[in-house]
Amino acid sequence: MAPIFHLEVGTDRLATLTFDLPDKKVNVFGRPALAELERMLDELGARRDIGCLVLLSGKPGGFIAGADVDEIARVTDPVEAEAGSRIGHRLFGAWAELPFPTVAAIRGVALGGGTEISLASTWRVASDRADTRIGLPEVRLGIVPAWGGSTRLPRLIGIAAALDLILTGKTVSGRQALKLGLVDALLPDARFLDLVRDFARERMLTASGASPEPPAHPAPPPAIRRPHKRPGGLRGALLEGNPIGRHIVFDQARKKTLEQTRGHYPAALRAIEVVRVGFEDGMQAGFDAEARAVADLAPSPVSKNLVHVFRLAESAKREHGLAGGEPLPVRETAVLGAGTMGGGIAQLIAAETDLPVRMKDVNHDALATGMRHAAGLFDRQVRRRRLDAPGMRRKMALLRPTLDWSGFRRVDLVIEAIVEKLDVKQAVFAELAAQVPEGAVLASNTSSLPIRDIRAKTPRPERVVGMHFFNPVHRMPLVEVIVPEGADPSAVNTVFDFTRRLGKTPVLVKDSPGFLVNRLLTFYSIESFWLLDEGWRIEDIDRAMVDWGMPVGPLALTDEVGIDVAGKVAHIMAGAFADRVRLPAWLDRLSDGGRLGVKNGKGIYRYEGRERQEPDPAVYAALGLDPKHAGRTGHAEGGGAPGLDDLADRMVLPMVNEAARCLEEQVVRSAGELDLAMIFGTGFPPFRGGLCRWADQQGLPQILATLERLEGAAGDRFRPSEALRSTAAAGGFYARFAAAAAAD
Ligand code: NAI
Repeated sequence: MAPIFHLEVGTDRLATLTFDLPDKKVNVFGRPALAELERMLDELGARRDIGCLVLLSGKPGGFIAGADVDEIARVTDPVEAEAGSRIGHRLFGAWAELPFPTVAAIRGVALGGGTEISLASTWRVASDRADTRIGLPEVRLGIVPAWGGSTRLPRLIGIAAALDLILTGKTVSGRQALKLGLVDALLPDARFLDLVRDFARERMLTASGASPEPPAHPAPPPAIRRPHKRPGGLRGALLEGNPIGRHIVFDQARKKTLEQTRGHYPAALRAIEVVRVGFEDGMQAGFDAEARAVADLAPSPVSKNLVHVFRLAESAKREHGLAGGEPLPVRETAVLGAGTMGGGIAQLIAAETDLPVRMKDVNHDALATGMRHAAGLFDRQVRRRRLDAPGMRRKMALLRPTLDWSGFRRVDLVIEAIVEKLDVKQAVFAELAAQVPEGAVLASNTSSLPIRDIRAKTPRPERVVGMHFFNPVHRMPLVEVIVPEGADPSAVNTVFDFTRRLGKTPVLVKDSPGFLVNRLLTFYSIESFWLLDEGWRIEDIDRAMVDWGMPVGPLALTDEVGIDVAGKVAHIMAGAFADRVRLPAWLDRLSDGGRLGVKNGKGIYRYEGRERQEPDPAVYAALGLDPKHAGRTGHAEGGGAPGLDDLADRMVLPMVNEAARCLEEQVVRSAGELDLAMIFGTGFPPFRGGLCRWADQQGLPQILATLERLEGAAGDRFRPSEALRSTAAAGGFYARFAAAAAAD
């Protein structure tokens, strides 16, 4: 097998070790790489001709992406998990103990084990390339950094800063890393390798006591060297330098984590404990705590589910859309409608692609609001230092508001986001088709109208595709790419490809009522209305789902969507699926009475501005309801009154029932894509692995039994679908509807 590590030793005693995993795009520390590193460390330890060693990546795309996730996925035995952690400690420990200093030269992505070997190095330098990102994302996979990262990072950058990185799993740029003290220098990418060598040579000579020769290349400007100061700044030093201060820091982290995770993500809490032990009881105690934590966490269902979701997202990145058509190049774009969605989409295009985007509306004020909305989002990026003021001006200049069709002759892709009215959309599409080049792709962001109806009056219907974003556009990672019958694969793939350029995840979905996500969500939210109808309290219904792991409860979500809009969608779904969608008689009474939700500050909840307050008790009276049930946590005991977990079942199981139908009707291609769409489109809790995976884990026979019981008690809307029965008979969702994308 071709070597993975390449050692070169110069006559000036400066050596480089290049990590270059053969036949792979990125470097990962799988078994082969670890085994070779071990052999290499033996050799390095005995070399007397090395004065300083630089660790480089041979991959143009990045430094080291961490451990091999497939190997983490396979671990089911705690003993094996612990041993995996100890290997990292042994190797990176040996790296730290080499008889000469080491420099980790980070260019591109350094994650997990990649960051951990750099922490075990004497110095770290980063390239200023835009894609340099450094982080420890282990908690996102349900484990903790366990190759020394949880122990070494706080010693380098302070406890609070380390916890911030470890608990969120976020990555930082080279510049941010420099500020944190995570790297010692930030080097301009254009001369990265030369400057790394200069850095290493300089340090090597200083370390050996010789006066440094002038570097062969001019030194990087001093501004990019890290000033020597205490990690965490003065506040950090005061707080973290004594036991009481540290107690406060750890305690706050624990409280915040519990509040955010509601106990569903045990790795985060465990990481806090591991960091504490490593900081207070010494390095070896820290390493032991890391190893024990991984032994407990890696085999757990939560970690397995998070790894599953990670792999779904990775395989979605490799998807190509429909067979039989190349995506067309998109150089100029337009958005119709400057409202909530149109404004957000136009901003996203400017932010992510740097392409000019026309934004057309019929209303001057709407254009002004759309521009303000975009400016507000860019401004937020400026405040977070992700963009500078000239950058913001350049981005805003890409947005070209217009009331007429000027400029549409050059547009390759138009995304329509105007009012949700079929006759208006049909007329606009017919007019639009005459304004754009023949080959232009026309996309609609409709949330409920069939694309085949919207395109009915256009001369080239095969070029019309659905491109369904989720609200708020800048935050939600999913776009459903709706494929109507007879669509030109090249038009579909243009939208698919462009979605990815926008940094979103595209999922192909058939042109059918509610598409995928809204169809499933309707069953969920209608059930929340029925619970309200039965006398459950608003707060208990929502708490049942928030405790279950959803980001907001279904009734709060209805307020966010707009009660009028949600009602309209519910009616459309009741028309499309009359056999199983039943609506409470009072459904339209709320919006008719002027309660529209967040947008007019009056909904199922009270609002201060856009901030949700407590549920509005007047809702019960307005609907003639009597909130009589008490919300207890857990399931019903011994046939007693239902608990909140039973309420959650009632809202989730109708989605499972409908998911089987969606898969059988090929609304979506695989259980994995359905799961990813629900996680990215609704915030369905990742720790449960997705709707289908959760159902499989519960066992479909048991879910069928619960649905049958509910059918007996609450009505035929719970009747198990034939699709669900066949899926149960076939061994579950993933057994029946696995596709390449969902392989696990
Ligand atoms: P909105 O009411 O905020 O904006 C619609 C805009 O379209 C208004 O500014 C209006 O002046 C403009 N408009 C009306 N007729 C026009 C025409 N002929 N030409 C150009 N502009 C015209 O509506 P929103 O919420 O942005 O929805 C737009 C579309 O996106 C709808 O199809 C909706 O179903 C869909 N959608 C909405 C989501 C949401 O959460 N609001 C989520 C996903 C899709």
